[in-house]
Amino acid sequence: MTILAYSPMAQGLLTGKFGPDHQFDKGDHRNGNRLFQADLFPLVQKALYALRPIAEKKGITMAQLALAWVIANHCVCAIAGARNARQVIDNAKAADVTLIETELAELDRISRPITDLIDDNPVQWTW
Ligand SMILES: NC(=O)c1ccc[n+]([C@@H]2O[C@H](COP(=O)([O-])OP(=O)(O)OC[C@H]3O[C@@H](n4cnc5c(N)ncnc54)[C@H](OP(=O)(O)O)[C@@H]3O)[C@@H](O)[C@H]2O)c1
Repeated sequence: MTILAYSPMAQGLLTGKFGPDHQFDKGDHRNGNRLFQADLFPLVQKALYALRPIAEKKGITMAQLALAWVIANHCVCAIAGARNARQVIDNAKAADVTLIETELAELDRISRPITDLIDDNPVQWTW
């Protein structure tokens, strides 16, 4: 059975472009995403801080790291959202990224403090 994972970049969060003080516009649906709420957001920032050097060391973007991480799982595909052509091109290159076992284990370790706090509900937003 194949899994098609939506929001593989956590609605842009895993691209690392939303810093600790980021404020979304009032109508932005990310205001209702569980990961952007005050209890989890500092932990997410800590994880992003740890993820960034991994992406830099591999010479890839944070978006590519996030997508490669998802599709490294057997039988999992990612449906990647994009706002513009630059993002589409950036994201498509994730298909060429290979993550080795030790890197996957490190990504898992970094993400655990957050995923352990999230329940199994596949819908993590309130809109
Ligand atoms: N069936 C369902 O229930 C369901 C639920 C959720 C999503 N989906 C679908 O799944 C797809 C993906 O979900 P999603 O768009 O919510 O989440 P996503 O793929 O995790 O994130 C997409 C957002 O990340 C940012 N982004 C994407 N590529 C980037 C890059 N290379 N560099 C920097 N920022 C980048 C953009 O945000 P900015 O706008 O800030 O640029 C973009 O809107 C969508 O087509 C959506 O319709 C389906």
